[in-house]
Amino acid sequence: MAFIALQRGASYHRMMSWSPSSWRRKPAMHIPSDYPDPTALAAVEKELSGYPPLVFAGEVRTLKRNLADVAEGRAFLLQGGDCAESFKEFHPNIIRDTFRVLLQMSAALTFGAGMPIVKVGRIAGQYAKPRSEATETRDGVTLPSYRGDNINGMEFEPASRTPDPQRLLKSYGQAAATLNLIRAFAGGGYADLHNVHKWNLEFVSGAKQTARYQALADRISEALTFMQACGVTSHEVRSLREVDFFTSHEALLLGYEEAMTRVDSTSGRWYDTSAHLIWIGDRTRQPDGAHVEFCRGVENPIGVKCGPSLSTDDLLRLLDRLNPNEEPGRIVLIARFGAEKIQAGLPPLIRAVTAAGRKVLWSSDPMHGNTIKTESGVKTRRFEAILSEVGSFFDICRGEGVYPGGVHFEMTGQNVTECLGGAFDISEQELAARYQTQCDPRLNAGQALELAFILADRLKSARDGVGAPKAERETARNIV
Ligand code: PEP
Ligand code: CO
Repeated sequence: MAFIALQRGASYHRMMSWSPSSWRRKPAMHIPSDYPDPTALAAVEKELSGYPPLVFAGEVRTLKRNLADVAEGRAFLLQGGDCAESFKEFHPNIIRDTFRVLLQMSAALTFGAGMPIVKVGRIAGQYAKPRSEATETRDGVTLPSYRGDNINGMEFEPASRTPDPQRLLKSYGQAAATLNLIRAFAGGGYADLHNVHKWNLEFVSGAKQTARYQALADRISEALTFMQACGVTSHEVRSLREVDFFTSHEALLLGYEEAMTRVDSTSGRWYDTSAHLIWIGDRTRQPDGAHVEFCRGVENPIGVKCGPSLSTDDLLRLLDRLNPNEEPGRIVLIARFGAEKIQAGLPPLIRAVTAAGRKVLWSSDPMHGNTIKTESGVKTRRFEAILSEVGSFFDICRGEGVYPGGVHFEMTGQNVTECLGGAFDISEQELAARYQTQCDPRLNAGQALELAFILADRLKSARDGVGAPKAERETARNIV
């Protein structure tokens, strides 16, 4: 009893010293300090703090409950979208297509995992980017790096690369319009499972490995027909015609996040209303840094990118700071090691977290550790490396006795040529054809779907215990 009281007391004390602006007293990495007019920035932040919230506390609580289910092995997390959203690519069709591919992936994964898929877009707020270099030099001219459309512009000229606070207002407006369209799609009939399955059949008929995907698609068709015959139709059942869809982005630009943080009148607690889930990037997860300070005080689920430089001590310290009361569904640990490094890097982290008795959701971002440059200097990723990292992630989690709970992709619904390989076997020469990303190379619609079908197939085989002896089959049922 005394111990519990002490613990409560300690966390109460910690929370006492937290406020939406307490991050300003901590070292902050990757937040621009070169706004020419800091007063103008402060004025914009003040204006934003009076704007309507983009998401609501009740929705955030729903997501947290869903993520708690994932952590318990009762659901699976699919998170995906652009590396960086941009003003240039802001168009209803682009939003629609990303949303559609995520639904298609989710339908395949639902069947494969035999579980609900929690759907979270990297969308409606994913604008600010951490950059490895502060400046960029071209033909002897050096300018500040591009840092995302809510900070500065891509064009390589001084005016565009100068941080402009007005961009924050524009990105808020764009996030609001994006979310408005997504809410309409999610609840207005577009997301009906029968539509989604029809799109999947179209994908399968055009794919290279048709036979393999066709078998999976046929089984989904049969299941739908059976349900229809039993009277389980979209007309009758809401979950067949509507989806819950959540938003997320990296909580990088803390002035914006602070301005969007409000007290929820129902619970009296602080929520960052810019997105349902926010995550801390691999470059800004210093336990004593500004980003961790900000995130520890809001109620949203928090993602933490875990890369090769994360020590077990720091990870445990992060869990203490971000989730002192072990709240279910609060933490998503997103492993992003690269296909070559995951084998050495992930097991020690899993062991430390398990030994500390911590409950987290483990997810795999197989994108950020697999970025390479072609000989001509184009940033890309190999489909094979991405697939290999997710495969290793599943194997490692199973080997360590934890549940591999989710995947995190950079992807788009457009037919871009940014990642190598996949269904339509994009070659180095083809990359230039439709290389449109503002930042990192994304899977195109076909590559993203192919990945989902492969994963669905593996999840299904693991559930069926294909190729495994009986004892292993039982374990597979428990942990996949
Ligand atoms: C990202 O997710 O876009 C990103 C920058 O990732 P990371 O922090 O893992 O490098
Ligand atoms: Co990225």
